[in-house]
Amino acid sequence: MVKLKSRHLLGLQGMNREEINLILDSTDTFLEILQRPIKRVPTLRGVTIVNLFYEPSTRTRISFELAEKRLSAETVNFSADASSVKKGETLKDTVRNLEAMKIDMVVIRHRYSGAPHFLTSFLDAAVINAGDGAHEHPTQALLDMYTLRKKYGKISGLKVVIVGDILHSRVARSNIWGLKTMGAKVAVCGPTTLLPYEIEKMGVEVYSNLNESLRGTDVVMALRIQLERQQSCYLPTLREYSQRFGITKERLPLLNENFTIMHPGPMNRGVEISPEVADGPYSVILDQVTNGVAVRMAILYLLSGGEGKVE
Ligand code: CP
Repeated sequence: MVKLKSRHLLGLQGMNREEINLILDSTDTFLEILQRPIKRVPTLRGVTIVNLFYEPSTRTRISFELAEKRLSAETVNFSADASSVKKGETLKDTVRNLEAMKIDMVVIRHRYSGAPHFLTSFLDAAVINAGDGAHEHPTQALLDMYTLRKKYGKISGLKVVIVGDILHSRVARSNIWGLKTMGAKVAVCGPTTLLPYEIEKMGVEVYSNLNESLRGTDVVMALRIQLERQQSCYLPTLREYSQRFGITKERLPLLNENFTIMHPGPMNRGVEISPEVADGPYSVILDQVTNGVAVRMAILYLLSGGEGKVE
């Protein structure tokens, strides 16, 4: 019987195909539960989970909170801005104090890569990475893969191009690890200033010309241009960026039939993606959000030792 190898979810680097399939297969059950009039099961009754967010989030934070509530877990939300972090308390002290209050799981988003790994060095609770710096965002990539598998019935053989700020993107990194493990062909495309040095060593094709990258592609994953980085000279003007790398309706005929448009959110409409594409018939952006709750329910269930049938 397949089980997750680790009791934490820190990233998709090193996670094998069987483990990813286990999460995606389990998600089907939880998505069905979310269609019911009463969207709640007692699976995690008695389990206490802290959502520890040191960075802003809409989708991931609320999705985890809903997933926990729908599994009947006890949920505590921690926001760094409204805590003793403001008085200088360290991450380690904060988390050790929370652990002293008897918690079972921590979901953490932090601006520093490696923060979730650091917690596992002293914490008994299971740790889930909800995005660490520019390193990984594993639950985002899992919900992206689930969304693709649901549409195409498989991930293997799909050509996926990830467009935009690859350098700072934890979503790109987790998707590259996960999609490649599942047999997809992955390409990245962006201004050379926003492509990490030797990114091709991750086994991806690399493009600086968007139109070239789109030919023969099934899936486009547009990334948020991090406007705060514009001052650092990574980007030309936003107008030029949009002209060279924006996903617009004029570019869609370059894609394969039955193509898919994805974006992890939040979007800069009119910059990396035009509103008509974001809201168009090939966009699965809101499906990604819906599926995210079910994927996170599956992850919480599996990390809490779940293996039986959930009714
Ligand atoms: N996709 C994503 O991580 O969005 P949030 O930053 O709103 O959580």
